[in-house]
Amino acid sequence: MNIFEMVNGKTKIYNVIGNPIDHTISPQIHNTLNRVLKINSIYVPVKIEKENLNTAIKGFISSGISGFNVTVPYKKDIIDFLYKMDNTAKYIGAVNTVKNINGKLYGYNTDADGFIKSLKIETELDDLSMKKVIIFGSGGTSMAVITGLIKEGVKDISLINRTYEKAERLMRKFNLIYDKKIINAYSLKDEIKNKLTFDSDIIINTTSVGMTPNTMESIIENRNSFKKGQIVYDVIYTPSQSRFLGFAKSQGCKTINGLGMLIYQAISAYEIWNDIKISDKLSKKLIKLFKKNFQEDV
Ligand code: ATR
Repeated sequence: MNIFEMVNGKTKIYNVIGNPIDHTISPQIHNTLNRVLKINSIYVPVKIEKENLNTAIKGFISSGISGFNVTVPYKKDIIDFLYKMDNTAKYIGAVNTVKNINGKLYGYNTDADGFIKSLKIETELDDLSMKKVIIFGSGGTSMAVITGLIKEGVKDISLINRTYEKAERLMRKFNLIYDKKIINAYSLKDEIKNKLTFDSDIIINTTSVGMTPNTMESIIENRNSFKKGQIVYDVIYTPSQSRFLGFAKSQGCKTINGLGMLIYQAISAYEIWNDIKISDKLSKKLIKLFKKNFQEDV
């Protein structure tokens, strides 16, 4: 049945809030899940201006909205409205999923889980322990990626950022939380970044460098920094193959873009909201469908 034909007085409402919000593809992902799983819910984007955030959230609670996703720029601001927050969201310091239980808001962050699911399923790699990882960027996405990787027991993480102080801050924070020296911070200098990239098993770009419309940019400019067999992940999915991934692919690396992370974080949010577990088989089927549908127009 068409999603709109399913809507009736019992339909549960979910939203994604942010600003801007016009380009989000989350509604297609969630509403496809509603249709495939025959769950009577609808997911609609809502653009909220900063000065209206307070009244909007109060409105959500009083109108009984079942939950919502949070995107830029409200992933931190939303914390003030929460009754409770899960540990992953606490470590990352940002929330992307909110569930309304009897008028109380519970916050989660499914980005870490979404990244790890995407990485493992798309590389068919089950064990990430003992892997040497390099991560470019020290913003919100980087924190989610780090949280996921540390939980998976990776051996060590080289964290590189244009603003060194931000990388250093994250290094201190995570080494303290996990009580071990797992992260080393570096600034974005050619010599260091090229060498560390060459010596790593998994290379991850969490910065916006190379994203449409700046597709001629890459955080690594020397394709010889990559070598065959490495796993190279770019959280960017517009374009579907960034210059960074193009260099890596030409050297025989396994390359992955960020569409999988986006889809798996949505699946994790869906599981939290509906108290269900979506099977790996169905996840894989959905990811294939979404990649086919969205990668053509992104
Ligand atoms: P997100 O939530 O997507 O991680 P963010 O928190 O704004 O976004 O972080 C963006 C990251 O991309 C930062 O690490 C930023 O580096 P700075 O901390 O130095 O600002 C990085 N970044 C953005 N544009 C960059 C550029 N042109 N060159 C290098 N790094 C860049």
